[in-house]
Amino acid sequence: MTSNLNFDGVPLDPTLLPIPMTAINLSFNPLHRKADLVTVTASSPSLSQETTAQGAIAATNVRMSYQSGSEVFHALKGVDLQVPTGDMQLLMGPSGSGKTTLLSILAGILTPTGGSVKLLGQDITKMSPKALAKFRLENIGFIFQGFNLFPALSAVENVEVALKLKGYRGSSARKEALVLLEQVGLANKANNLPRDLSGGQKQRVAIARALAGNPSLIMADEPTAALDSQNGHAVIELLRQLAKEGGRTVLLVTHDPRIMDAADRITYLEDGLIQTKPHH
Ligand SMILES: Nc1ncnc2c1ncn2[C@@H]1O[C@H](COP(=O)(O)OP(=O)(O)OP(=O)(O)O)[C@@H](O)[C@H]1O
Ligand SMILES: [Mg+2]
Repeated sequence: MTSNLNFDGVPLDPTLLPIPMTAINLSFNPLHRKADLVTVTASSPSLSQETTAQGAIAATNVRMSYQSGSEVFHALKGVDLQVPTGDMQLLMGPSGSGKTTLLSILAGILTPTGGSVKLLGQDITKMSPKALAKFRLENIGFIFQGFNLFPALSAVENVEVALKLKGYRGSSARKEALVLLEQVGLANKANNLPRDLSGGQKQRVAIARALAGNPSLIMADEPTAALDSQNGHAVIELLRQLAKEGGRTVLLVTHDPRIMDAADRITYLEDGLIQTKPHH
């Protein structure tokens, strides 16, 4: 492992490794749909009473300004957002409204100009970069808008690298990577390089990688944009089950109307401000 290891855009200090392995419970079938929303019990290792009261994600007055040259652009103008544990929530809104900016801040990838973000009861805006990198590694599975796969690694190696960062060793990392690829329907492309995968297949590798180590928080930027209807449906069901069956929390940025029916709540972002409408 090199000393400049970078994962999900966050430089990782290798002295943090190995990180204790979280319990693995990914024995779901993505195509099986629960008839009803299940009451989520505290099965996640990171779940505390405080978390349950405040929600898994609690953002307060989050602001983000970008400086380009002498111009300052206010991309987020004071956003409040609460996502209860076990929810699958959507962030929607026009292009440029600030969705990726907000999701990146909620995932600890971007530091906001103001406001606070609590994840699982902990304020990530107060953490040191090291503590934040460790927290992200243990608790957040992030799926980027542009996949961010390592081009020189095969599909299975892309997933394996994430598992190794999370403490898997030797053949157990390869075995688990194959299980995760199987779950997104991609076991038959395990040895393909990203350039030899379609857009939808790359998306599924990115999803499998985000599920590595069974994180409690799953955040995704347009996870179904590149998928056809069958694969899009399977991915939506998978994300929904992750939320409902494991006490995980799923927050998705999407333009995809197919996901709207599976969501507990949709938050609309417009011009850097939020408008929340209950769904159903
Ligand atoms: N690094 C940056 N520097 C300057 N402005 C930025 C930067 N990143 C984003 N912006 C601006 O902030 C606004 C919000 O961008 P963001 O990427 O969050 O939008 P989005 O809602 O995700 O859009 P899309 O649906 O097209 O992905 C846009 O006007 C964008 O131009
Ligand atoms: Mg975006």
